[in-house]
Amino acid sequence: MRTRSTHFALSGLTAAAFLSLAACGEPEADTGTAEAPARDTASAPSQAEPASVGGASAEAALAALGEPYVSANLANGERLWRRCQSCHTVNEGARHLVGPNLHGMFGQQAGAADGFRYSAALEGADFTWTPEALDEWLANPRTFLPGNRMSFAGLRHDSDRNDLIAWLAAATAPDGTSGE
Ligand code: HEC
Repeated sequence: MRTRSTHFALSGLTAAAFLSLAACGEPEADTGTAEAPARDTASAPSQAEPASVGGASAEAALAALGEPYVSANLANGERLWRRCQSCHTVNEGARHLVGPNLHGMFGQQAGAADGFRYSAALEGADFTWTPEALDEWLANPRTFLPGNRMSFAGLRHDSDRNDLIAWLAAATAPDGTSGE
């Protein structure tokens, strides 16, 4: 009860004040691992960031997921994506970074992105990426699939995972108009 007021005193989030309720208690999950590949940060952000996740295919992908994703906070999801961005891209044809490009991942076999060298754990994994699987992966990648190589501590809050998964579903949705 006492800790809440200190969280609300977080500075630097004022520009995103409309998100501040969702951001309460936020930075604790950062262990610094997300910043690891410093050499990529110069080139990654501009090409990795889809300007919008709108469009018919994105909306359809999101609608197909149902609740809680259809009513998730996409702005918060996009903000959380920044923690993934140093290692992942989402746009079709974008290059693999430390981690694989995630375009079209929903409904796809885990460990199946073309041209990416996975760990044996992910390479040999026998499941499909669903919101539920992704939720467990993002809560704690290490326990979800022991031996995988993604160094990310995990997102502790259910609502953060929901928001990020919803944003990802829209951002990685194969574009119905351009094939694939
Ligand atoms: C420090 C780099 C790094 C960060 C940060 C990171 N990832 Fe990863 N991610 C990886 C690597 C490396 C792999 C492949 C792991 C393996 O082969 O075991 C991976 C794999 C994945 C996969 C499986 C892809 C597939 O083809 O099966 C998903 C999904 C994923 N990451 C999502 C995310 C999301 C969402 C975030 C942000 C919350 C994130 N990652 C943050 C490096 C990272």
